[in-house]
Amino acid sequence: MLAIRGLEAWYGQSHVLQGIDLEVEQGEIVCLIGRNGAGKTTTLKAVMGLLEKTRGSVRFEGEEMLGRPAHLRFGKGLAYVPEERRIVPGLSVRENLRLGLIASPNKAQENALIARTAETFPRLAERLDQTAITMSGGEQQMLAIARALIADPKLVMLDEPSEGIMPVLVDEMFDLFRKLKAAGTTILLVEQNVELALGLADRAYVVDQGTIVHHGAAADLLADADIQERYCAV
Ligand SMILES: Nc1ncnc2c1ncn2[C@@H]1O[C@H](COP(=O)(O)OP(=O)(O)OP(=O)(O)O)[C@@H](O)[C@H]1O
Ligand SMILES: [Mg+2]
Repeated sequence: MLAIRGLEAWYGQSHVLQGIDLEVEQGEIVCLIGRNGAGKTTTLKAVMGLLEKTRGSVRFEGEEMLGRPAHLRFGKGLAYVPEERRIVPGLSVRENLRLGLIASPNKAQENALIARTAETFPRLAERLDQTAITMSGGEQQMLAIARALIADPKLVMLDEPSEGIMPVLVDEMFDLFRKLKAAGTTILLVEQNVELALGLADRAYVVDQGTIVHHGAAADLLADADIQERYCAV
C-alpha cells in the first residue's frame, strides 16, 4: 500500500534522511522506532509532503507521491497526526472535527460523520460542544486522532500519540488502534513506548541516523533486548 524507497530528506544543508526503505501493507499496523533525533518524525513528514527537500520514492497505492503537495496526498487517503497535536484550542470539539472534513469529498455527510466519530470516541461524544482547550492533554490527543480519521483515510500516520498522556488514556488509545485495524484502517505508528508499540504492531522498523537499521516481525523485535538497547534507548 505504501512503499518508501531510498527516501532522503534535508533541513537546509543537513542531510537527515539518508535512504529510508519501508513498506506498509494494507491492513497492517507498522511501527517505526528509534532514539531521539533518529529521523522518525522527518520520515512521516516526508511521506505527507511537509518537507521542502526530499529525494527517492514514496508510492501510495502504486502512485508516486513525492513532489506532490500535501493536500493531494490527503485527498488520496493519507492522514497524519503530528507530534504537536495542532487542534484549534479556541474551537469546540465539534468544530475541530469539522476541520478534518474541510478538504474532504465527504463533507456533505458532515453530521453523520461527526455522529460516527462520536461513537468511536465516547470521550469526545460527551464533550462535542466543549472548547478544546478545556480538555486534558490526552483528550486533546484523542481529538487530534479523531479529526484525522473523520475523513476516512486509508492510511493514518501517528507521531508519538501516547506522549505525555496518562496511562489509562494510553490504554484506551491503543484499544482504539486495535479496533481501527479490525475495521480496515492501516496504521504507521511512531512511538517511544517501544514495548506497547511492539505489542500492538504487526511489523516494525528501527531507524538510526536517517537509515533503517533493522526490520522484522514486531514480536521478534519485542524479544530482542539487544536491538532495543542499541537503538531504542532514549
Ligand atoms: N526543522 C528542522 N530544522 C533542522 N533540523 C531538524 C528540524 N527538524 C528536525 N531536525 C533534525 O533532524 C534530525 C531528525 O529529527 P526527527 O525530528 O525526525 O527525529 P525523531 O526521530 O522524530 O526524534 P524524536 O524521538 O526526538 O521525536 C534530528 O537531528 C533533528 O535535530
Ligand atoms: Mg519525532
